[in-house]
Amino acid sequence: MDPDLQAAHAASFTHGADEYAAVRPGYPGAAVDLLLPDGSQDVLDLAAGTGKLTASLVARGARVVAVEPADGMRAQLTAALPDVEVHAGTAEAIPLPDASVDVVTVAQAWHWFDEPVASAEVARVLRPGGLVGIVWNDRDEDVPWVGAYGALLHDAAGPQLARGTHPELGEAFTDVLRTDVRWDHVLTPDELVRLAGTRSYAIVLPPDERAALLDRVRTLVTTHPDLAGLTAIRVPYVTRVYTARRR
Ligand SMILES: C[S@@+](CC[C@H](N)C(=O)[O-])C[C@H]1O[C@@H](n2cnc3c(N)ncnc32)[C@H](O)[C@@H]1O
Repeated sequence: MDPDLQAAHAASFTHGADEYAAVRPGYPGAAVDLLLPDGSQDVLDLAAGTGKLTASLVARGARVVAVEPADGMRAQLTAALPDVEVHAGTAEAIPLPDASVDVVTVAQAWHWFDEPVASAEVARVLRPGGLVGIVWNDRDEDVPWVGAYGALLHDAAGPQLARGTHPELGEAFTDVLRTDVRWDHVLTPDELVRLAGTRSYAIVLPPDERAALLDRVRTLVTTHPDLAGLTAIRVPYVTRVYTARRR
């Protein structure tokens, strides 16, 4: 790739990571509780991104190692959490020794993995009896304005990958449980528009198409009867938490 183009791509990822850190939701305390059973000490946050979940794990006193393939995301994570050990790496080739952690967490990322390969890698790095916790934040699209917001994004994105996805962890795991945690993320109208722009498809859209998409989102956010005039908008989420034990 020509160096100017490569630099432009790198810059767009860095911008994407900044926006991601600023407006994407974190994870509710009740979900984090499920990821850290008593006695958990060493935790791998896999596909850690900008560190949204990592920060909550660190705040609970866990020793957290983060693994993340994207340079821009890792840079944000290190800026926010300078004491966390961060490695470049993927779920399919986790750069940690066998049986080295009590917990592996995966937030908003399992659907990107090669599932059988990632499951085997998670089983390899977990100690026997260790926990894998896989979470997704889904907007509650049963709320009418949230459904309309989602419809705009789905029109541009095609089918949403995460919704309806169930992790297939294989024979190495037992006690698979799903728990739903309901909560609200409060954003300004402007942040709600910017949130749409953090979707990966929106980051790589040609500038005119990206602007048109964000204009449609802004119109919804400023004119929908349930939103018009609000300065703080409660975005309802359901956090899906899947946990399973390493045999
Ligand atoms: C939607 S972000 C979630 C980041 C973070 N866990 C959070 O909750 O904010 C998805 C992350 O998965 C990472 N990712 C994508 N494919 C991956 C893979 N095969 N192995 C590890 N990480 C991957 C991306 O780089 C991105 O940072």
